[in-house]
Amino acid sequence: MSAIVVQGYCPLKGEIEIQGSKNAALPMMAAALLHKGTTVLKYVPIIQDVFCMMGILESMGCACSRNGHTLVIDARHIKTARIPRESGKAMRSSIVVLGALLGRCMEGEAYYPGGCSIGSRPIDLHLAALRHMGAEIAEKDEMIIARTRGLRGAEITLSYPSVGATENVILAAVKAKGTTILKGAAMEPEIDALCGLLCAMGADIEGIGTSILTIRGTDELHDTEYQVPGDRIVTGTYLSAVMAAGGEAAFRRGSPQHLGCVLDTMQHMGADIRVTGDVTEIKMERRPKGIFITTSPYPGFPTDLQSMAMVLLAVGNGKGRLKETVFEGRFATAKQLHKMGAEIIIEGSEARITGKGSLKGTAVKACDLRGGAALVVAGLRADGETRITDCHHILRGYEDICRDLQNLGGSIRRES
Ligand code: EPZ
Repeated sequence: MSAIVVQGYCPLKGEIEIQGSKNAALPMMAAALLHKGTTVLKYVPIIQDVFCMMGILESMGCACSRNGHTLVIDARHIKTARIPRESGKAMRSSIVVLGALLGRCMEGEAYYPGGCSIGSRPIDLHLAALRHMGAEIAEKDEMIIARTRGLRGAEITLSYPSVGATENVILAAVKAKGTTILKGAAMEPEIDALCGLLCAMGADIEGIGTSILTIRGTDELHDTEYQVPGDRIVTGTYLSAVMAAGGEAAFRRGSPQHLGCVLDTMQHMGADIRVTGDVTEIKMERRPKGIFITTSPYPGFPTDLQSMAMVLLAVGNGKGRLKETVFEGRFATAKQLHKMGAEIIIEGSEARITGKGSLKGTAVKACDLRGGAALVVAGLRADGETRITDCHHILRGYEDICRDLQNLGGSIRRES
């Protein structure tokens, strides 16, 4: 079992480049299925979830070749529209492959998707929307079997701006007959990236960046090359690391234009932050101030940075409060932080946190991807050594958290 070992009380300093975005790259890879040709994606992060998606595409007959951060997907020949059980269940994003499969093959078989245990994570909105577009969907045990005689454009209103359901509708609508109007769409920047790629491939999508998307179906797509944006959540993680450890650092390609609410919150907590072009600079000379933070869909404070915020409030000054409104089960990391001496009281969807200035190093366990990364951040402001086990969760989304923090002067290493 691999572990990450962090030595606390070592201020960070330096400049690093942020990896490409996981949550943008995965649906973009699924989009490649729609085109009987080649799609080249650049700046793809080298992470477990990307390997898992490559495995899914290859099992269907696509040829995927990776050279560094460039991924070439040749989807000329598809031999099966079935997502393998193991990879389907390993990763939440496997479900967005279904919309692309219906568009390309008029059928698709998937499993109820896995991913982080952060709540019940139903897919009812995905399936209802696909049915509305003409898919017949049977759910048998853990399987979802979808067929269509041809998807048709439809007017769809999502009752919640689900990121995955929005992506599924977009992927299904690109090759559907007629026009799809999607209301109540999620507005996360990763959706803009998906639409950007699809438009570069020849799709016709209007309203990008808003909650109403109009997608006119098209028969022909073409070969394209497109760049994945920098990962805003990884940037937020490393900004949190500097806020916890103290010091100053700069991050290139970290999509600061998509971090408005996060940067405002961090400044409110006492960080000095400056954005110049795609570079985000941060300086932290005090303990983070206790404040009230509520997560919400974009452009609000992202749920994916909620556990980092919890750590910052726990090592800060004064009393803070966190309200989680996106995933009900996303406070699992609090239990691990208790072991490190944090004072956190969970009441339903709220956490009340009393800042203790610092924590104590001990053995903790990563419960999910972002929660695991938050424990690394906590270790940077803990007395002694923090040993984080079950790190496979972290590897799903961070290329090399140890390398990045070492490059900033952090004392952190991976043990097998
Ligand atoms: C995406 O998950 C991200 N994953 C998550 O990042 C992120 O936390 C989440 O969006 C919110 O920003 C990927 O992009 C791969 P949702 P997704 O559908 O699409 C409810 C990370 O750490 N809902 O917007 O699964 C659902 O239960 C991951 O990188 C339904 O009720 O999120 C949740 O409460 C974790 N029915 C809320 O909507 C549905 O059919 C938001 O889920 C779908 C969702």
